[in-house]
Amino acid sequence: MMDFISMLKNRRSVYSLDKTLPVAENAVADFVRVAVQYVPDAFNMKSQRVVLVMGARHEEFWNAVYDEMVKFTGGRFSRDKIDSFAAAYGTVLYFYDTAAVEETRRAYPGYAENFHDWVMQSNAMLQFAIWVGFADMNIGANLQHYNPVIDNMVREMFELPDAWTLVAQMPFGGIAVAPKPKPDTDMAGRVKVVG
Ligand SMILES: Cc1cc2nc3c(=O)[nH]c(=O)nc-3n(C[C@H](O)[C@H](O)[C@H](O)COP(=O)(O)O)c2cc1C
Repeated sequence: MMDFISMLKNRRSVYSLDKTLPVAENAVADFVRVAVQYVPDAFNMKSQRVVLVMGARHEEFWNAVYDEMVKFTGGRFSRDKIDSFAAAYGTVLYFYDTAAVEETRRAYPGYAENFHDWVMQSNAMLQFAIWVGFADMNIGANLQHYNPVIDNMVREMFELPDAWTLVAQMPFGGIAVAPKPKPDTDMAGRVKVVG
């Protein structure tokens, strides 16, 4: 249990990332596959999808995000943040597959209203599992949300089915500058223990 607690504490938003990966590239891909396989989903519908972007495609992706955001904001968009993400080793793109969700929703109409929340919860579990696992491998990561502005560009760039809906983008890489330690949180009122 202590190991798990240390792993939880070790996960942070790391914004200063570089291209020095402390593990082999295929270890990252293997780990991401395990996380997708073992993270739970409502009705076991297996809605989560991931595109792991590395190498030249990673920089191409962030340049295209910049172009989309410039269009979206009418030019009022700074490159600084985008450059910091492009400087990382790669990006995990998180999606859910609406086709898988709709099929299960039709099978359980009584729960139809709940499916969107469940899909997002399961996707968040996957994001968290990968974030914690990365931190354990000494890989820094942060979480970004340029969707839905970039959705069409992403589908085209990676030739994805229309049914894949983008949820989050996670740049990852070597930790160039570690984040400052977290201040102690006031936990009063956040957890109620009964019994
Ligand atoms: C659902 C969710 C959405 C987030 N969205 C963003 C985001 O769009 N951009 C960003 O820089 N950080 C984002 N974050 C990171 C949080 O700001 C960060 O986790 C929080 O401040 C705590 O810091 P820590 O990650 O270092 O513990 C998000 C985190 C979560 C859980």
